Amino acid sequence: MSNNAEFKSKIGVIAATVGSAVGLGNIWRFPAETQANGGAAFLIIYVACVLLLGIPVMLGEFSIGRYGGSDPMTNYQKISPGTKWWMTGLTCILASFMILCFYTVVAGWTFEYMWESLTGALYQPIAGIEPGSAAMFSEKMGEYISGTTGPVVFTMVLIAILIIVLMGGVNKGIERVSNIMMPLLFVILILFCCVSLALPDAGKGVSYLLNPDFSKVTGSTIVSALGQTFFSMSLGMGALMTYAAYYPKNTKLGQTATIVTFTNTGVAVMMGLIIFPAIMSFGLEGGEYAGTALVFVTMPQIFSQMAGTQIWSILFFVLLFFAALTSVISVAEVAVRMMQDRWKLKRLRAVLYVTVPLVVLCPLCALSQGPLNDVQIFGLNIFDLFDTIASEILLPLGALFMCIYIGKAAPKNMMRDELTNYGTIRYRFVGIISFILKWIAPPLIGVILVSQFV
Ligand code: TRP
Repeated sequence: MSNNAEFKSKIGVIAATVGSAVGLGNIWRFPAETQANGGAAFLIIYVACVLLLGIPVMLGEFSIGRYGGSDPMTNYQKISPGTKWWMTGLTCILASFMILCFYTVVAGWTFEYMWESLTGALYQPIAGIEPGSAAMFSEKMGEYISGTTGPVVFTMVLIAILIIVLMGGVNKGIERVSNIMMPLLFVILILFCCVSLALPDAGKGVSYLLNPDFSKVTGSTIVSALGQTFFSMSLGMGALMTYAAYYPKNTKLGQTATIVTFTNTGVAVMMGLIIFPAIMSFGLEGGEYAGTALVFVTMPQIFSQMAGTQIWSILFFVLLFFAALTSVISVAEVAVRMMQDRWKLKRLRAVLYVTVPLVVLCPLCALSQGPLNDVQIFGLNIFDLFDTIASEILLPLGALFMCIYIGKAAPKNMMRDELTNYGTIRYRFVGIISFILKWIAPPLIGVILVSQFV
């Protein structure tokens, strides 16, 4: 079965790609990383990484994707037949599957919180605990995230939604969902920004994000910024490569990468502009607001002090859910496309082959946050094991090999042809992008990889 699916419109191309990039990485990982790494200084280093490394690697993925027109593994095989480069594609597919296992679980939490906000259960007091306190929301988080029933049920709900969207196909599924969810996501985001910036102590939060304190910068800050760049821009595991195979021939890759990158970074910064002013204004600076607790404890705590608690809460978790769902879809599409292309499966069947294993693996990941936390491999529970192997090893590895491939083995004309749409448009940065991919990106990515082990 040949696969000639294409995104129908320019908006579709942008919405789907932004949908992949904008995810929990921007909304919850970015503020947490910023907080852990000295505020504005981290932001500056992150932006530098995005420009220096993110955009070129993204363009590399786009070029291979559209040039090969297939799944990551087949692309390498088609472009460089008879070589072992297809193994790079295999790494991508493995990584994507592992990310899928835990990311679906987190997306399930966002749906669960959306639901509990809707029913109001999230804000029901618990006997013996001060209503609206951090303790109360930690207790709720224990139930919704580390419990047994909730996390499993909502993971299943998410798998069901994923199946429905993927079965809809590239246009009626992925493109349509992105076209609806992304604009709504922006409306909600801008609304929150306005509200947060109007809070009494907003200035303190903004200056936290904009006044760098370079004394907090260490080697690990840079490594974190590099890691955040890859994760946030969906690089290194073929998600964007897979989407690029659906780009029409006249899509301008350079322009697309610029729009997607600026939007993606913009969302992260806006999230910072929402969270830090809110934390400062509600006097929660001293609290534990890293990682999971930041969105699932601190934000509900803030909403509970605002008029219209439930409405804000619903909107916030809808925002998270939209961001998470469109990213999960892109991760899943990597394996779906591979099964369609390599095993010549019909889309429906490919979707089931990818999602049915999730019915077993996702609950395992979900439960490893609670009842199965004792099942540990290399000192990590199943969730963290998948996260660590995929994000910290396979992802940079995939990107590293891709850069080496482009620098050394890919057809010399590939990048130029793809970036200039075969000479029909001008793209000024072809030379510099190729140079970065060949000489600068590999050692930098090498640093991330090695740093995991020292
Ligand atoms: N970029 C998404 C986020 O910020 C997550 C994601 C989607 C991703 N596709 C990916 C991460 C591919 C790595 C690779 O949350």
